[in-house]
Amino acid sequence: MALSIKAHPSQLPPAPTRRERGDPCTMILTGVTGDLARRKLLGCVYNLHRAHLLSDGFALLGVDRLPMDDASFRELARKAVSSCDEVRGFDEESWRELEGRLFYAGGDLTQPEVYAQIGARLAEIEAGRLGSEKNRIFYLSVPPFVFQPIVTHLSASGLAPRTPSDARPWVRVIVEKPFGSSLATGVALNDLVLGKFAERQVYRIDHYLGKETVQNVIVFRAANAIFEPVWNREHVASVQITAAETVGVEGRGKYYESSGVVRDMIQNHLLQLLALTAMELPTRLEANLVRDEKVKALRAIRPWDADTHAAWAVRAQYAAGHVKDRPVPGYRQEPDVFPESTTPTFAAMKFMIDNGRWRGVPFFVRSGKRLAKRVTEIAIEFRHPAYRMEELVGLTPGAALEPNVLVMRVQPNDGVTLRFDAKVPGAAMALTPEIEVAPVDMDFSYADAFGADLSPAYETLLLDVMIGDATLFTRSDEVELGWRITDPILAHWDANPPLQMPTYSAGSWGPPESHALIDRDGFRWREP
Ligand code: BG6
Repeated sequence: MALSIKAHPSQLPPAPTRRERGDPCTMILTGVTGDLARRKLLGCVYNLHRAHLLSDGFALLGVDRLPMDDASFRELARKAVSSCDEVRGFDEESWRELEGRLFYAGGDLTQPEVYAQIGARLAEIEAGRLGSEKNRIFYLSVPPFVFQPIVTHLSASGLAPRTPSDARPWVRVIVEKPFGSSLATGVALNDLVLGKFAERQVYRIDHYLGKETVQNVIVFRAANAIFEPVWNREHVASVQITAAETVGVEGRGKYYESSGVVRDMIQNHLLQLLALTAMELPTRLEANLVRDEKVKALRAIRPWDADTHAAWAVRAQYAAGHVKDRPVPGYRQEPDVFPESTTPTFAAMKFMIDNGRWRGVPFFVRSGKRLAKRVTEIAIEFRHPAYRMEELVGLTPGAALEPNVLVMRVQPNDGVTLRFDAKVPGAAMALTPEIEVAPVDMDFSYADAFGADLSPAYETLLLDVMIGDATLFTRSDEVELGWRITDPILAHWDANPPLQMPTYSAGSWGPPESHALIDRDGFRWREP
């Protein structure tokens, strides 16, 4: 049973006017032949061009080790863009307009010599560009082990100077996750980057923040008088945050062995979702004010102690099973995975937030690969009303009505669902055992209401960097807090290897231990 809320399309301005155009700039995209650039970034640049959101003064300089001329790079980029999942309709004409603005420089970025060559190409591009501003974005899409030499050489080359706050032309640096692999390495990485650039020049990407529903979490609360007043311990019984994937490690066994689900998903994406849900509303929607509030919420998370470790965290690994009716191997059988690996591919955790708004409300967080469904959502479960309806309608003792649940669906089918109870038609209104009450859903979907495809996260984020809006990027203190929260959990796990690693069948909703974790507080995981 579902009711739909629809926005009237004529109330909406045409798409391009809803978003500001980027400043004129050159994006120096390092690692341009790598997986991320080919699968996502180049396609998102193309989408921005097609939506008229790139300045006429935009150019892209791809950099990677392979020697290539501009023509070969354009051909490589064309292949990537035309087959990119993020691209909504590829057309030759708009591609031709864009490709003339793509350039390439080949070389090893860990060696200082290549920066002179990049400088020469930049001078060439900037001299020929429409618009006079020589703004630059350096996108560091490179593996962690080359990060340090690249940042050092880039800074020494003078191509990316540290600039004062209102400087134009501006220089911005995009840093991709992982931001370290522990508190110590995260701090060292921040020190390295902030030793060369000012914080406001640095854009740390957590692509979950670019997802439409994630951005909507703040707006939803701020704009709706019926939700913000109940967003607290008086009315909320628990919060569940799920990021479930059906994919396995997809050929990334080597990376995943050193990472696992906590470093890969929880330290960053899930803690960001938690922070956005739990934070106080900022006084203005400005990057630093939003980030200050997230930091305060993360700081209020109760530190774990010896008892908590055992009761509040569950780890497991997928065993062979079926996903979407297809047999799939277990994690230990994946390429580049150690046959006795204890790297978790699933984790469930409980966090308590010790502040006035949330004291006593458990926040349950889970993420895993090879689960039953691909779904990311934040579910707010409300307390039962004081009026004991279930007693009045004569439900069997102990049975309860379904609680109201507000679900913010991050993906797929982004939107919001509100679950409430309604009288099933037919039974007499007299409060007799015959009266039936059933949960129904009131559903809002972005696609139905606004009719348009949502912009992929990277498209939103790239445009924000061109505009200079850092709201959807993580600040150094958020990164460090993420590690402060997860490091003790990881350390406890390392010190206490399981006698036998708990497993779950691929295609299930995780191990029984995960259900036990939430059951202890009287809740059940949703199976969306
Ligand atoms: C990445 C992780 O950050 O997020 C991947 O490294 C994961 O392991 C991915 O699959 C999930 O992103 P999305 O947007 O598909 O939910």
